[in-house]
Amino acid sequence: MQNIIIEGGKLLNGTINISGAKNSVVALIPIGLLASQKAIIKNVPNISDTKSLLNILKRLNCNYTYQNEELIMETSEIKNNFIPAIESQKLRASYYFMGVLLAKFNYVKMSVPGGCKIGKRPIDLHLKGFKALNADIIEKKDYIIIKSDKLIGNNINLDFPSVGATINLMIAATSAEGTTTINNAACEPEIENIAEFLNNLGADITGAGTKKITIVGPTRYHNGAITTIPDRIEAGTYIILGALIGNNLKIKGIVKDHISSLLLKLKEMRVPFKIHNDEIIISKLSNLSPIDIISQPYPGFPTDLGQPITVLLSQCNGISHYKETIWENRNGHVPYLNKMNADITIKNNTLMITGPKNLIGQEVVSTDLRGGAALILAGLIAQGKTKIKEIEHILRGYEDIVEKLQKVGAKINIVEIE
Ligand code: EPZ
Repeated sequence: MQNIIIEGGKLLNGTINISGAKNSVVALIPIGLLASQKAIIKNVPNISDTKSLLNILKRLNCNYTYQNEELIMETSEIKNNFIPAIESQKLRASYYFMGVLLAKFNYVKMSVPGGCKIGKRPIDLHLKGFKALNADIIEKKDYIIIKSDKLIGNNINLDFPSVGATINLMIAATSAEGTTTINNAACEPEIENIAEFLNNLGADITGAGTKKITIVGPTRYHNGAITTIPDRIEAGTYIILGALIGNNLKIKGIVKDHISSLLLKLKEMRVPFKIHNDEIIISKLSNLSPIDIISQPYPGFPTDLGQPITVLLSQCNGISHYKETIWENRNGHVPYLNKMNADITIKNNTLMITGPKNLIGQEVVSTDLRGGAALILAGLIAQGKTKIKEIEHILRGYEDIVEKLQKVGAKINIVEIE
């Protein structure tokens, strides 16, 4: 077991480099299995979600090498083995093996996915879409079978622009005969990255990144490569950190368009920053204006930055509101921020945050990935020592977070405990 220990209050200066996007790579890795013999994925972040996926690759008899952020997968001898709960429940994104194995073998049997505890996380939209592509679903208590004699293209309307369902259906549809359209598709940048990889492997997908995606199948897969896009949520987390305690903190490797909803909110708060190519330089300002934020599907404000930005809202001069609309319960960080002297109340999934409050170091628990990141930000601005427990949630999605922060002057360490 490990804890993070932080001595807060130190201004941060220097450069933080952004890694490949977790939410892209968790789909790119399963998709690599579709290659006829070899797939290459570059800029693969070394996070524990990547390790969990590599374990599943081994189970499916995929040999690979993973060095210097480059994953080379040998795919000519893949076996359609059962994926047990101990592997599928390490992460929610294991659901992408459903789309991939269905596309490759017309059959998949696996345990249901896991993931952060942020409310109900059904996969009904994925399953409804597979059915529309002529698959049958058998749901048992501990596992699911999805099979088809032949996948056939169809028109699919998503009831909600689910990121995972859009990607899974796009994958499965590449093997379906004829044309599939996914309407009300999610538009997140990761979806474009993933469609590009599928196309590099031989698929015919247009419209990814818009509300209507068209896939013409079936695909004859060949070999292919892709570079993972930069992680806009990691970038956003460090940008928020810069606004909290940066002294010309430079974040390098950003795509400005991917984070524009965050930048607009920072402008509204009057946070000073400068952008040049793929770099942003950002500094702390006292007397920030309070603002209201609502999470929305892309290009709206991302739910995944809701928890980190709560910490910044706690430093604004007055009352701010944050309304979570995507997930049922993403408030695990709130009791701990309040323990650190923040003033946050929750009503109907809306946070009312009264600031500015001087945060004070405490012993806290990371209940989920982004909630844990929020506690790190809080610890870095707090007076005194903060101890964060259950940090495995954080390490699922932030590559070298402790090393990156130490490099810009933070007093932060991982300590091993019994
Ligand atoms: C992805 O989850 C991300 N995860 C999440 O990132 C992110 O919060 C979310 O998209 C929204 O942007 C990965 O990419 C691995 P959804 P996903 O399907 O695809 C409901 C992080 O911190 N829904 O868009 O699972 C669902 O319950 C994480 O990096 C259904 O009802 O999210 C939720 O309320 C956490 N039925 C909403 O839709 C379904 O079949 C959005 O879910 C699918 C989803």
